[in-house]
Amino acid sequence: MTDFRIGELRVDGADTEARNHSSEEENEVWIKPLIHQSQGAKEFAYCPYSKFRVGAALLAHDGTVFTGCNVENASYNLGLCAERTAIAKAVSGGYRSFKAIAIASDLEDQFISPCGGCRQFMREPDGSYKEMTIEDLLPVSFGPEDLKKKRLFTTENGS
Ligand code: THU
Repeated sequence: MTDFRIGELRVDGADTEARNHSSEEENEVWIKPLIHQSQGAKEFAYCPYSKFRVGAALLAHDGTVFTGCNVENASYNLGLCAERTAIAKAVSGGYRSFKAIAIASDLEDQFISPCGGCRQFMREPDGSYKEMTIEDLLPVSFGPEDLKKKRLFTTENGS
C-alpha cells in the first residue's frame, strides 16, 4: 500500500503553505504520479534482511522528483530507510525545499509509518511536517474490504 504524506521539508524556509486537503485536480496532476513513482522506487529496494520493500518519491518545489528505496546492510543499524535515501539524494543535489513525499510498501491494507529516525530527518530545521492518510483524502470511502463484510442477504450466482 502507498502511504501519501504531505510534508513541508522547508530546509530553506521557502514560503509554501502546508495543506490539509488536496483537490481532485492536484490528485491527478501530481499526487497520483508521485505515488506511482514511489511504487517504482520500491522495485530497487535492497532488503535481503527484512525482505520488506519500501519506496519513496520526494517532490521538490520546482517539480523535480527524487526517488529512494530502503538500502539495508549486514551491519543492520547502518541500513537506510527509503525516505532518508530520497532526502539525502535531493539535498546533495542542491534541493532544500519540498512539497510532498509519497511512500510505498508491499503491505496489502495498511500504511506504514515513518520510523523515528526519518521523522527527525524530515523535521529539519523548522518542524513544519504534516502527515495525511488516504482517510484524510477520501473520508468514509468505499473499498475492497467493504465487499467482504457480512451481509443480510446473499445471492448464489451474483444476479
Ligand atoms: N523502512 C523504510 O524504508 N521506511 C519506513 O517508513 C519504515 C521502514 C525500511 C527499513 C528497513 O529496511 C525495512 O523497512 C524494515 O524495517
